[in-house]
Amino acid sequence: MRLYVAVLIIILIENWQFKGNAQLQSIYDLKYWRCFLKKHYVCPDNNVKYYLYTPETGQKRLRIDIRNNLSLRLSGFDPERKNVIIIHGFNGTESKTPMTILRDAYLYRKDYNIFTIDWAGLTNFPCYLSSLSNMRLVAQCTAKFYAFLMDHGGQAEETTCVGHSLGAHICGMISNHLTIKQHKIVGLDPARPLIDRYANKYFRLTKDDAHHVQIIHTNAGFLGEVNQVGHIDFCVNGGMRQPGCKGRQIRIARCSHFQSACYFAKTVRYPKSIIGYPCDTSCPKSKRNWNYLPGPSTPMGHDTPYGMYGSYCVQTDTKKDCPFD
Ligand SMILES: *[C@@H]1O[C@H](CO)[C@@H](O)[C@H](O)[C@H]1NC(C)=O
Ligand SMILES: *[C@@H]1O[C@H](CO)[C@@H](O)[C@H](O)[C@H]1NC(C)=O
Repeated sequence: MRLYVAVLIIILIENWQFKGNAQLQSIYDLKYWRCFLKKHYVCPDNNVKYYLYTPETGQKRLRIDIRNNLSLRLSGFDPERKNVIIIHGFNGTESKTPMTILRDAYLYRKDYNIFTIDWAGLTNFPCYLSSLSNMRLVAQCTAKFYAFLMDHGGQAEETTCVGHSLGAHICGMISNHLTIKQHKIVGLDPARPLIDRYANKYFRLTKDDAHHVQIIHTNAGFLGEVNQVGHIDFCVNGGMRQPGCKGRQIRIARCSHFQSACYFAKTVRYPKSIIGYPCDTSCPKSKRNWNYLPGPSTPMGHDTPYGMYGSYCVQTDTKKDCPFD
């Protein structure tokens, strides 16, 4: 573990130190074992792909190329609709669960342009450290994509970035490259490993990254971050272990981490289907005492009113519509 941390620190220091000094930095991407460490930061990059799904195309995706000014219009993008940008986490892809569950929930509504980001080639198991480093490139390119979307009629106040795990931090890191604040970010159990101890605020999701940042905690303290992170945080079922997740410790953790996306997807489909009640900012909760506080309840997820803040506790039943394997 100590070695891994040392390697991470070297990567991070190297990347930050030479930021303004690009000519000194090796421009060759580094391949080691099964891992891929990007050192060449030019966008667009073929390892970071953008797709659009619309109510008309359904589950058929269309690739968006920001070098082509017509690319959005030809793909069926409708500027009158709201936009969501969905970013997967470590060892994920845009075309696998739980991202497809989110996509399908938005498709069901029919009022969104659904953009998904695929950075699967830069985040393979077990290459967590290079994934962390590569997030900087993904954020840089996604900021460029975001600007492209705004240039072509997208409305910032109607655009939400939804990220799972490391993807949540990427939603936040996009801000490092924008001059105008994003409107809304939903962080689905933002990744904790190493980020909690070693990443500064430019390297993680914070509430400075958008006017409204919502966090849904489902594996707090292990794969997910603890306590209050955003303007409004929901600590679900005690925040750590989700009902229906069975098996070995690591499987329970991964399954619970994954459920954040399913809970959110449910609220996208069914308005106000999950309700949170005020409680203190600690998450995870100790087994018995969730420290409920007086005050009004609020819907979690898609319909949380803009401007709501605080920490809320949620209790849900077992989800049968959230396949995890
Ligand atoms: C694309 O659109 C932008 C903004 O509308 C414009 O500045 C740029 O020149 C266009 N590029 C091409 C290749 O048409
Ligand atoms: C990583 O992704 C691959 C391909 O989807 C999958 O087979 C594997 O189980 C995943 N590994 C972990 C640890 O999540």
